[in-house]
Amino acid sequence: MSRTNLRHDAMSQPEKIAERGITDALNGMPAVRYDHVCKIYSGAEGDIHAVRDINLSIAHREFVMLIGNSGGGKTTLLKMTNGLIVPTSGDVYYYSENLRDMNLVQLRRRIGYAIQGSVLFPHLDVEQNISFVPRLSGFAKDQIEESVMHALGLVGLDSSLLRKFPHELSGGQQQRVGIARALAANPFVLLMDEPFGAVDEITRRSLQEQIARIYLEEGLTILFVTHDINEAMRLGTKLLVVNDGSLQQYASPEEVLETPANSYVQSLVSEYQGAPIPSLTKR
Ligand SMILES: Nc1ncnc2c1ncn2[C@@H]1O[C@H](COP(=O)(O)OP(=O)(O)OP(=O)(O)O)[C@@H](O)[C@H]1O
Ligand SMILES: [Mg+2]
Repeated sequence: MSRTNLRHDAMSQPEKIAERGITDALNGMPAVRYDHVCKIYSGAEGDIHAVRDINLSIAHREFVMLIGNSGGGKTTLLKMTNGLIVPTSGDVYYYSENLRDMNLVQLRRRIGYAIQGSVLFPHLDVEQNISFVPRLSGFAKDQIEESVMHALGLVGLDSSLLRKFPHELSGGQQQRVGIARALAANPFVLLMDEPFGAVDEITRRSLQEQIARIYLEEGLTILFVTHDINEAMRLGTKLLVVNDGSLQQYASPEEVLETPANSYVQSLVSEYQGAPIPSLTKR
């Protein structure tokens, strides 16, 4: 599946590199970089410092599990990564391009985004839901078909579901369609905000295995928010621990487990039940 079926003027740096057939050049490059990123929400009751001075580089092809307290700024940080929220101060870079200099509508179409629960368009069938972004991005008809079938295969859904509407699907199937939709435009970066929070444990396990396989096969960079330390350990190549808007630790699961940076991280990993780490994403 070609990653470069966009018009050239709609491409950002990784697509232009991929078009030249040198995707290896992306290895070692930061896919996402936060430079003194802060987000303050101002309200009647004063300012809320949702994200406090985050500095971090996330390398291309990392599977980052974002974990921390509720209200700790995880969703805010994720949404600043695709420009849905603009930082109050500081800069976010996507493959070395400053988001402040980018066309954010185009960027959001290029970064996959999947969130918890059913966020499918209820009046569109499965095929129309998955092809939504490729259509907006001006893919040709055969490329749209190819993208849909590729994405459907990645999430393990049968093509007999293409004409069904969201209300005719199970929760797990809806979640898979949501992920297929996020993958359909062949993103280099996939953002997932508690994508498996609303499904039962068996479906959750199966979705975890699926996303691990997609990660390994597609060469993506993934930022994935979870509340579940076990899920974080199982999927992450890195854990990004935040608390009250501040970065606590960014390290491999093994390192976080063996040398937690502080008492907050220590208390978080004390809930971890497995040993050793049965990682699904080891390359
Ligand atoms: N639009 C907004 N206006 C005002 N405050 C907001 C807004 N969005 C988030 N906040 C506040 O910013 C802080 C961080 O919120 P955020 O949604 O990023 O946390 P989170 O880590 O994703 O939490 P959760 O785990 O519960 O989803 C919280 O205190 C929240 O109440
Ligand atoms: Mg959140």
